[in-house]
Amino acid sequence: MVLKFFVFILFGGVFLLLQRKNVHAKSPHILFIVADDLGWNDVGFHNPNMKTPNIDRLAREGLILNQTYLQPLCSPSRHAIMTGYYPYHAGLQHLVILPWQPVCSPLKMKFLPRRLKELGYATHMVGKWHLGFCSWNCTPTYRGFDSFFGYYNAQEDHYTHEWYNYLDYRDNEKPVRNLNGTYSAFTFASRAQDIIKNHNSSQPLFLYMAFQNVHDPIQVPKKYEDMYPSVKSQGRRQFSGMVSALDEAVGNITNQLRESGLYEDTLIVFTADNGGWPQYFGNNYPLRGGKFTVYEGGTRVVSFVHGAGLKKTGESFESLLHAVDWSSTLVEAAGGKPALNGDGVSQWPAIINNTPGPRTELIYNFDSDVAPEEGHAAIRMGDYKLIDGYPGLYPDWYKPDQVYDFKPEPSVEEMQAHAGRYQLFNLKDDPTEHNDLSKSKPEIVKQLSERLQLLTKNAVPPNYPLIPDPKSNPSKFDNVWSPGWC
Ligand SMILES: *[C@@H]1O[C@H](CO)[C@@H](O)[C@H](O)[C@H]1NC(C)=O
Ligand SMILES: *[C@@H]1O[C@H](CO)[C@@H](O)[C@H](O)[C@H]1NC(C)=O
Ligand SMILES: *[C@@H]1O[C@H](CO)[C@@H](O)[C@H](O)[C@H]1NC(C)=O
Ligand SMILES: *[C@@H]1O[C@H](CO)[C@@H](O)[C@H](O)[C@H]1NC(C)=O
Repeated sequence: MVLKFFVFILFGGVFLLLQRKNVHAKSPHILFIVADDLGWNDVGFHNPNMKTPNIDRLAREGLILNQTYLQPLCSPSRHAIMTGYYPYHAGLQHLVILPWQPVCSPLKMKFLPRRLKELGYATHMVGKWHLGFCSWNCTPTYRGFDSFFGYYNAQEDHYTHEWYNYLDYRDNEKPVRNLNGTYSAFTFASRAQDIIKNHNSSQPLFLYMAFQNVHDPIQVPKKYEDMYPSVKSQGRRQFSGMVSALDEAVGNITNQLRESGLYEDTLIVFTADNGGWPQYFGNNYPLRGGKFTVYEGGTRVVSFVHGAGLKKTGESFESLLHAVDWSSTLVEAAGGKPALNGDGVSQWPAIINNTPGPRTELIYNFDSDVAPEEGHAAIRMGDYKLIDGYPGLYPDWYKPDQVYDFKPEPSVEEMQAHAGRYQLFNLKDDPTEHNDLSKSKPEIVKQLSERLQLLTKNAVPPNYPLIPDPKSNPSKFDNVWSPGWC
């Protein structure tokens, strides 16, 4: 009896202590914003010609993450954010998931919203998924989100919400047919506002806000295009308007956080998913290359954090951060323990104090198996970056508002010409990748290529079926891209 009493006191005390700790380190609300195909040079805080007052203010009042890297393309980047694993550990390193491929981010990998749910969060998602949908188990509400409003595929018409003439727009599991004609940035912002309005602030909120802007197709209501009368190319003018519509949506969502009394307790993360797409008017100048390439323009992205927990603001975090770090970083920000497995590290202690982060190296991509001559790999160690093979379709430095003659696809000859060829850059001295040092520093080439080989030793081969699966055909599903065929 007495013993029982002591045990009770002991555990009761520990319990109270834990509770107190929880009260002390209150989990912040987390608003995680992903902008699709937004280039390095497409925001006002990098380029004064862009009109993004809301994004600029958040960046300047927060901490700019100046060396943030993602994958060169959508599915792999989103996979990295959600799981903390590099795509080459999941078979997702080759291009992106196509609507007719029976592929999704491996079900055995735990998604970030599921980790946050374990810490007591309400978890909501708005916007683009692009992590596979052939089975319901692959889709957002089966991977940790309480609710989902958005689309499953890479892209679609911003007004009709169709891709290849089939609808891809859902509210949780149900197709949405009554928003034909409404531009997605409005719909998405308004859903996010509703989520915030209806949220009971005594529970921490995780809102993953994956905008369709500014991905191709280049469409925007005229009023936003008209904000850029001095831009000569119509494409760049419309694209710039798409960026400003995105900015307005970000402003509306943050206003709602204020109105609902959540703003002060919210950590906002903003990131692009890869570099801008030069062919569709995105711009990464002065960085080299763009989306699809492992050059910096494809992989080093606009990113910042703002709000709850940050002790040093109005500054720039100059350490390396990779998309795979977000899962552990946010779990720690939420008061949990970062996962021990995976490729990511928690950057939270470094971010809150703006002290040097733990990451000293990263893999840009490792993709060699579908067709060896098309493969590419790149690694960064310290100041050096090594590219092995074909870097991608956009090898140059593109300026905004200029017309380039882009090839729709790389030529096989061009890819083969790069096979077995290395490029080496010192990104500290040469962040824009003008000076290939591979001939003058063979010992560093050797060191980085050996490290690359070691880190990619257990790579999973790309899961990239070349033949479309006829079971995916939306005509079998009421003309809607739908799960249920794998
Ligand atoms: C970001 O890095 C670039 C070099 O890549 C540097 O010029 C710039 O000053 C850094 N800081 C900010 C806030 O942009
Ligand atoms: C949406 O509207 C367009 C034009 O009015 C029409 O062609 C299309 O079939 C509609 N799509 C759906 C899914 O209703
Ligand atoms: C919010 O949740 C708390 C704790 O569950 C509850 O006491 C409170 O009544 C809720 N507030 C509203 C407005 O529902
Ligand atoms: C932002 O809110 C204003 C005011 O309600 C509205 O007119 C505008 O359409 C909204 N814009 C977006 C992108 O949601």
